[in-house]
Amino acid sequence: MEIFNDFAEADFALSVLLRSAHVLAGITWIGLLYFFNFVQVPAYAELSDGARSEALRKLTFRALWWFRYAALLTFLFGILLLGIQGGDAMDSYLAGVGGTAILTGMLFGITMFLNVWGVIWRAQKIVIGSAEAVASGGTADPAAPAAAKKASRASRCNTLFSIPMLWFMVFAAHGSIWFTAVGSTVVYWVIVLALWAFIELSCLGLIGGIDSPFNKLAFDKHRNTIYVGFGLLAVVYFIGWELILAA
Ligand code: HEM
Repeated sequence: MEIFNDFAEADFALSVLLRSAHVLAGITWIGLLYFFNFVQVPAYAELSDGARSEALRKLTFRALWWFRYAALLTFLFGILLLGIQGGDAMDSYLAGVGGTAILTGMLFGITMFLNVWGVIWRAQKIVIGSAEAVASGGTADPAAPAAAKKASRASRCNTLFSIPMLWFMVFAAHGSIWFTAVGSTVVYWVIVLALWAFIELSCLGLIGGIDSPFNKLAFDKHRNTIYVGFGLLAVVYFIGWELILAA
């Protein structure tokens, strides 16, 4: 059968299977991320306290299970895909066009994955635990409002990062047609890492607090998050790739 020819080589069957599994898990994860940001947050702001608490415990709780395990699978399939794509020549793969692109996509993707498990899920456990306590006649956890804010900032940050992340995932697999080689990568990485660190540390409240001017501008309204996401992509692609790497 054709499918078994060079099964584990790049661009053959295992790679296609892993790619499909990676994208399937990825759309499950990012679809729920967009549902939380664009649908759930505005809807919850209009619900009564009782309705919101019930929805949190019965709807968000279930959605978060799919969300975090889809993130885990996306990450694991992505790492396996990297292994196949790089193969025995991993160093030269990573130094080329596809490698620079996938390292950029992975920088955003892995940060998003860590935000899911390390920030959003930990904070949501406090928020949902508090709602459960109130529903069974107990008192609210005083840490819940701050935890909700922390989760919301990290979730918006993931929405922002998802825009350049997806571009560079697809660009890694298909963009080498118009970029045959990359120039010096040092300046590129300094710019990308500085932007990435500023945005991630800001969303965690480590630069100017959780309500810093940047956080309020980029994360309070989901429309702004989308604009800043496309702005980040434009800077990284047009300045990073077209001006610096192509030179
Ligand atoms: C969490 C960390 C992630 C890692 C480590 C990762 C890794 C990878 C790797 C190694 C590739 C192959 C690139 C190539 O062919 O040169 C890839 C492709 C791709 N990834 Fe990811 N990825 C991650 C997250 C995501 C997410 C969240 C999505 C969202 C849907 C995504 C969507 C894609 C797509 C669409 C492709 C291109 C598939 C194709 O056209 O063949 N990735 N990723």
